[in-house]
Amino acid sequence: MRIVLLGPPGAGKGTQARRLAESTGMTHLSTGDMLRSEVASGTELGLLAKKFMDSGELVPDSDIIAMIQQHIADPEGVLLDGFPRTLVQAKSLDKALDHANLPIDQVIHMSVNTDELIRRLSSRVVCKECQTPYNLEVDPPVKSGVCDQCAGDVIVRDDDRPDAVKNRMKVYEELTAPVLDYYQLHRNVAEVIATGTPDAVFAKLSTAIRSGAPFN
Ligand code: AP5
Repeated sequence: MRIVLLGPPGAGKGTQARRLAESTGMTHLSTGDMLRSEVASGTELGLLAKKFMDSGELVPDSDIIAMIQQHIADPEGVLLDGFPRTLVQAKSLDKALDHANLPIDQVIHMSVNTDELIRRLSSRVVCKECQTPYNLEVDPPVKSGVCDQCAGDVIVRDDDRPDAVKNRMKVYEELTAPVLDYYQLHRNVAEVIATGTPDAVFAKLSTAIRSGAPFN
């Protein structure tokens, strides 16, 4: 199966994709996580990407497509989180899947109101070492400022600072909302209102995936 999770910054795509990957055995492909790992390793792509990421801009399509291309035909199935994010990326994904004779089985749009998105992003912290995400309101580390997994320092993501968040919302409206329109023209998009507790959202998504149908 290939499932695209669409939604604005802070909609809970990463949180839910990790849980769905665990419950279904599918591979979680997050372009944001892949890029953060390139940044942490100091690769050429990481150095280039960091400049865009810190200000909330998108990394160029050609670099993203080259980075993800080899992973999308994973035989375990994939949950795409943060990709595609532009029309160019959406069309390139269609082309690559056509070529491999594989369909996109489902597109799920996770919607959350803007106040809640900002509240979630302004309370997110991550481990500087292993990137484990936390949320100071709903899922804090046991010991303040210290990662439960590796005891690394827990910090605010550079792109969760207010100016970058504002720009990410703007970039989402300008470049990623058209991807939702594109999918709505071509297929049934399952609509999930992704508010409520993470458990409640997980239940809604699991139902949407099981039924394969639009869902509210
Ligand atoms: P990326 O990491 O993909 O950022 P994003 O889409 O802005 O997504 P977020 O991680 O902010 O939000 P999310 O929806 O995953 O929510 P999460 O589960 O984390 O990309 C970062 C950057 O990389 C981009 O800005 C761009 O520069 C670059 N990039 C990445 N992909 C690219 C691409 N395809 N093309 C070009 N550039 C690309 O949750 C957020 C917080 O809310 C967490 O603290 C979580 O604990 C909390 N939370 C989650 N669910 C709930 C809930 N139900 N209730 C309360 N709190 C919740």
